Amino acid sequence: MSSQLFSPLQIKSITLKNRITISPMCQYSAQDGFANDWHLVHLGSRATGGAGLIIQEATAVSPEGRISPGDLGLWKDEQIEKMQQINQFIISQKSVPGIQLAHAGRKASAAAPWEGGRKLDDSQGGWNTVAPSAVAYHDNEKTPIALDKTGIEKVISDFKSSTKRAVQAGFQVLEIHAAHGYLLHQFLSPLSNFRTDTYGGSFENRIRLTLEVVDAVQSEWPENLPLFVRISATDWAEGGWNAEESVQLSKILKEKGVDLIDVSSGGLVSHQQIPLGPNYQVPFAESIKRETGIGTGAVGLITEATQAEEIIASGKADLVLFARESLRNPNLGLKFAEELQADIQWPKQYERAKIK
Ligand SMILES: Cc1cc2nc3c(=O)[nH]c(=O)nc-3n(C[C@H](O)[C@H](O)[C@H](O)COP(=O)(O)O)c2cc1C
Repeated sequence: MSSQLFSPLQIKSITLKNRITISPMCQYSAQDGFANDWHLVHLGSRATGGAGLIIQEATAVSPEGRISPGDLGLWKDEQIEKMQQINQFIISQKSVPGIQLAHAGRKASAAAPWEGGRKLDDSQGGWNTVAPSAVAYHDNEKTPIALDKTGIEKVISDFKSSTKRAVQAGFQVLEIHAAHGYLLHQFLSPLSNFRTDTYGGSFENRIRLTLEVVDAVQSEWPENLPLFVRISATDWAEGGWNAEESVQLSKILKEKGVDLIDVSSGGLVSHQQIPLGPNYQVPFAESIKRETGIGTGAVGLITEATQAEEIIASGKADLVLFARESLRNPNLGLKFAEELQADIQWPKQYERAKIK
């Protein structure tokens, strides 16, 4: 039987040539949010490597929403041009360029991992962070400022303006980052949201900001282009956001017109207990898909062609996202096609290396 991993997938007006997706990965290599040649080569080489969809790293909707000073951003028009160039290259390789829009909330203002990843104070170029509640990720960190209504409205309008720029930059898929303990996830989880207003307490209140951000994004994002939301399906911690709430939220997002849930997990609290292993997050993607009918993406310790093929062929997810394996091997699409005996088109410049 022909490979399901290499079967095309149409979502709205976009057809992905296969189900191999490059997961968003911070490169901590931007200056003032601007993309540069590193991003062109990093993303471009994964396009020549055969992936169907390439999602650009968490791209901040405001300077204070960056995880690190090296994050990409789309908070001003000047940041559009280089991304547009990168996207044109990705499209020339018959791949699809996507973007993940993000706000890091209380996890902002940190050093790059290779500089220790610790919180930056003002003297190190850090900034004040914001969150649903004035509670830090680590006890020894500077306390974030709890967002008031005006601050919440700014976050929503920042997502809207960045979406407008993402359209201008030529992205064809947009993913809202509501996972990994960043701002939207901080609102979703009772372990970081202690608000007593309409944004805290009940499930309906905790999901409110995510839904308002989806509305704001949809007001700018073309109806015929795919919209994804990445969530952490569980906090892996007692009393936290959980799998049932993820199903409930996914149902609501589907009704709003979101096309796909990119299903990750964790990142909200330091005492999380994650049972790491191959496919460890796949059951969440599977249950969200089964119980709501929305498309899902599976991610996390998926490294083999046959492993990814099984996830798609058994209907557990519609896309498989690869992060670290794609850093080890940018030519993931070309290699997996060979392993699964799928006949795909190689870049003509590389054809002499194709094993026939
Ligand atoms: C270098 C690096 C940067 C990452 N940056 C992001 C990011 O910007 N946004 C995001 O949602 N996840 C990010 N992640 C998480 C990955 O997208 C992915 O969910 C995770 O690594 C698990 O997949 P893997 O086992 O294939 O690596 C990053 C992971 C790595 C290794």
